[in-house]
Amino acid sequence: MATSATHPTSPLLEARGIGVVYGGGLRALHPTHLRIAPGEFVVLLGPSGAGKSTLLRTLNGLVEPTEGEVWMRSLGIARDRKQRRALRRQVAMVFQQHQLIGRLTALANVLTGRLGFHSGLRTLFPLPRADRQIALEALERVGLIQHALRRCDQLSGGQQQRVGVARALAQQPQIMLADEPVASLDPANAAHILSLLREVCRSGGIAAVVSLHQVPLARRFADRIVGIANGTVVFDGPASALDVAALARIYGNAAATGADAPFDERAEPIQTGALATT
Ligand SMILES: Nc1ncnc2c1ncn2[C@@H]1O[C@H](COP(=O)(O)OP(=O)(O)OP(=O)(O)O)[C@@H](O)[C@H]1O
Ligand SMILES: [Mg+2]
Repeated sequence: MATSATHPTSPLLEARGIGVVYGGGLRALHPTHLRIAPGEFVVLLGPSGAGKSTLLRTLNGLVEPTEGEVWMRSLGIARDRKQRRALRRQVAMVFQQHQLIGRLTALANVLTGRLGFHSGLRTLFPLPRADRQIALEALERVGLIQHALRRCDQLSGGQQQRVGVARALAQQPQIMLADEPVASLDPANAAHILSLLREVCRSGGIAAVVSLHQVPLARRFADRIVGIANGTVVFDGPASALDVAALARIYGNAAATGADAPFDERAEPIQTGALATT
């Protein structure tokens, strides 16, 4: 059975028996308990369709759980729409396809991370200077300050994902969720984005839950790995405990041996100079 990671500190975010049945009756997530401690870097592993996105989207309030509840230390239980909106403001999300607006500059995209902090009407006007400052600092943290005024559709895939990370950082979250943030990147950029994500989270005291498809990357970056199969958590523990039996529980016997294949990573590192100075 799954080993349960112990937390010396009280949790920051907690899934209390959350389950999701989508319209049409498909059960994507069985009632799940999960506690995320402040500052920990958790990698979520599982085959396609296992329920990783569903879990992440429920944790940040994008999906309403069919049963159970999401609790956050600073908010309490997110019960209704309004509380789930507050949850989305405090739990930042990084997406696989970046979800940036291509014709806008990197800075403008990062500024959208601040929109949730203002009323609907306020967002029709330029955001305050303080927000610009926060956005610029976030771009600096990901090493992209020199590209702040470039259109996002003129940036490389890796740079666009760094804008995605900066946008999440601009929310000044206590926790960041990332749904396959490196799936559309080549192996070298994938490793560098994860390294960046871990570094900005570690230095900012931000907890992270990151879904990945590559076991070697999970082993390399995770403080803790949560494995999910068929909508159920089947592993929860440190990378060192992720043995063949655990991989078989997550991916099935046939796939488990291939899941640990070495990760190819050759290209030049991206420049994240700003990180070194902060
Ligand atoms: N909006 C939705 N409506 C109905 N069913 C959905 C919806 N989103 C996901 N599902 C189904 O729920 C199950 C879990 O999907 P989910 O996207 O959470 O898996 P995943 O682990 O993120 O997979 P992948 O690795 O392919 O991204 C799947 O069977 C999927 O088809
Ligand atoms: Mg998914």
